[in-house]
Amino acid sequence: MQKLAVLLLLASSALTAKIPLRKVQITKQKFLSAKERLNSEVPKFLDNGLGESIPVKDYMNTQYFVDVEIGTPAQTFTVVPDTGSSNLWVYSSKCYAIVCYYHSLYNAAKSSTYKKNGEKFDITYGSGSISGTVSEDVSNLGGTHSHIGFGEITSVSGASFYASQMSGILGLAYDTISVDKIPTFIDQSDLTDKSFAFYLHSNPDASYMTIPGYDTDAVGNNEFTFHNVVEQRYYSLNLTGLKQGDTSIPSNNFKAVIDSGTSVLVGPNSLVNPLIKGITVNDDCSGLDKLPTITFQIDNLDYTLTPNDYVLQVTQGSDTECVLAVMGQDFPAGFDYFILGDTFMRKFYSYFDKKNNRVGFINAEKLHH
Ligand SMILES: *[C@@H]1O[C@H](CO)[C@@H](O)[C@H](O)[C@H]1NC(C)=O
Repeated sequence: MQKLAVLLLLASSALTAKIPLRKVQITKQKFLSAKERLNSEVPKFLDNGLGESIPVKDYMNTQYFVDVEIGTPAQTFTVVPDTGSSNLWVYSSKCYAIVCYYHSLYNAAKSSTYKKNGEKFDITYGSGSISGTVSEDVSNLGGTHSHIGFGEITSVSGASFYASQMSGILGLAYDTISVDKIPTFIDQSDLTDKSFAFYLHSNPDASYMTIPGYDTDAVGNNEFTFHNVVEQRYYSLNLTGLKQGDTSIPSNNFKAVIDSGTSVLVGPNSLVNPLIKGITVNDDCSGLDKLPTITFQIDNLDYTLTPNDYVLQVTQGSDTECVLAVMGQDFPAGFDYFILGDTFMRKFYSYFDKKNNRVGFINAEKLHH
């Protein structure tokens, strides 16, 4: 009987699961407050426990969510699948913050596979913080099983958590930036092919994640263009140049971070200012076709976004307005990343081949859907 269960588990983990992503619209108000914070605040940094600082993100505008199960029997959580961080955390039934009254809560007492750990778990984000303790339990993302320590969050502050649907975050990056050095969901999972892909679409019902691997039906005869991860913290690729139209802008040895947990494109002002110079997006979306393209060169290959790609539609009451989805920030010296979030990933289907430390792209328009 036990052998059969093991066989079934192996069989199921060999198949690629297609997991729907839920998508919500960004409101103009949320967009502007996140933008204002980027422009006005000195970025906050988080010590990752290895004596290094990592920048903290702001989940105010996250749009894509996935369901993850924790415990036995399974308790279900809507979380941000985040390739820009490396921990799993969810709100706890021992949380009495207001946000915990309308989000799913993990109840350790109701899980037969719960194991106490008790180490403190704290993260400060751009717009707030969470804290609690580490607990251990089984987790399941669309048939991929793992057994890891995760943050069981008991106190929360900050607008982004109150304004968001998410009941937690599932970090999918490298263990080098994992808080408390906790092994990651992917590393500890039962997968032999430690890889996954995101198809992000502006249509709320069309987006999905696959794990392990990518959607072979949708990819068909197309081939991925692969880029090696040059630094295994985030999925950092070699950003060899930038362009507005045909005008080159030196990228000064920056790295492109492919980040499903950031909705827009965020870079240092020193690169963003020349990149968006003269680009004005009208609220009413008029004149988009007159704006130039912008290009990110990764390993000297062009990834070009048209105005339709780099302009985001946000909701303003019952209206839709257009805003530029490229934002500059004063990054401190040594923080040499350009964060390419969902705006980039919608245009380029992204395959995170963690097993081989590389990321593959295919222009999403070429997929068969
Ligand atoms: C990135 O590419 C440039 C230009 O090809 C090269 O000189 C540099 O060594 C590369 N950096 C990394 C980290 O691979």
